[in-house]
Amino acid sequence: MASGNEEERSARGHHGDKIIEIDYVELKNGEDRALVRRKKRRRRQKVKPALIILLVAVIAAILVAVLILGSVSKDAAGREKDAGSTGASAAADGDAGDSGAAGTQEDDGEDGDADTADAKPYYYNPEREGRYAAFADAHPEIGMEDVYWMVDCDLDVAPYEDTHPLPDPNDILLMVNKHFYLPDGFAPTDLVPVGNTMMRAEAGAAMQEMIDAAAAEGLNLWSQSGYRSYGVQVNLYADYSAQGGVEGADTHSARPGYSEHQTGLTTDLNTITDAFGDTAEGKWVAENCWQYGYIVRYTKENTDVTLYKPEPWHMRYIGRDAAKVMHDEGILSLEEYWVKYVLYQPPETSAAGAGVG
Ligand code: DAL
Ligand code: ZN
Repeated sequence: MASGNEEERSARGHHGDKIIEIDYVELKNGEDRALVRRKKRRRRQKVKPALIILLVAVIAAILVAVLILGSVSKDAAGREKDAGSTGASAAADGDAGDSGAAGTQEDDGEDGDADTADAKPYYYNPEREGRYAAFADAHPEIGMEDVYWMVDCDLDVAPYEDTHPLPDPNDILLMVNKHFYLPDGFAPTDLVPVGNTMMRAEAGAAMQEMIDAAAAEGLNLWSQSGYRSYGVQVNLYADYSAQGGVEGADTHSARPGYSEHQTGLTTDLNTITDAFGDTAEGKWVAENCWQYGYIVRYTKENTDVTLYKPEPWHMRYIGRDAAKVMHDEGILSLEEYWVKYVLYQPPETSAAGAGVG
């Protein structure tokens, strides 16, 4: 019975199959059943590996095709990106302003990243390439975008060495620091009183507005040291040097000719103590002074740039437009603003100005 059942199963299960046709015929011819089964197995064993090999080959071909397509589209995207950044760089070069060598810079290849190395900002000056590289080497912690503006305003030069006179001491946006100084005899001619101090008219009016606005909120601001002549600064710096030595004095007191107080655009508010920054008045000033055209000139965020300890009381007038730009763009020092908006101008600003005539 068992053999009869097996024959029937084979015939039903493999109807139309060539292998089973042979199986059936061979059985009918009385061939040994075990031999037939071995033949069937051999044939199946031959067919199965061939199918598997074919399947693997197809999958491998698909994988290779996917990899090739992916790599081609990545290359194309990379080329597009390179073209974009080169265009932006070229546009910025065209507005480099005072360099006189726009568009001649080469890839310094310093960081090994072609995209980054190519993207020079508009305040990059190829004539300073050696100084940028030296400053970057000396300060690996500073990013290249910062290196450019820092070198542009001589922060790679030691303080009080190779200093420059300011060409226009009446410019509201002038930058007085340890590299740029006021002419010996300079004194502003439009001083007005603010409390018991004097300031230039525009700066004084804005300061009074700020004092009044703070008062409206119940806060008490007063101007306690505004304009200081060159002579007054001589005595002040001499006193501080006598007390703490030149090195100590240089951390908080400007040398004569290098103080913003001589411009008439500056005043010290309330008390000259670190604690002022933590008072309600000190916090209000830090948050709101930009609306009146002022900045806190020396902060803990810009000590490496100004080379002075933080002075939360020392206010510098730069005008409402400039103060708003610094506030909105998070620019932390007048030095950075001066390079990016006075020494050079952003390309879009130049384009807008060109239409005004
Ligand atoms: N205290 C500031 C730096 C000045 O003397 O002008
Ligand atoms: Zn001051």
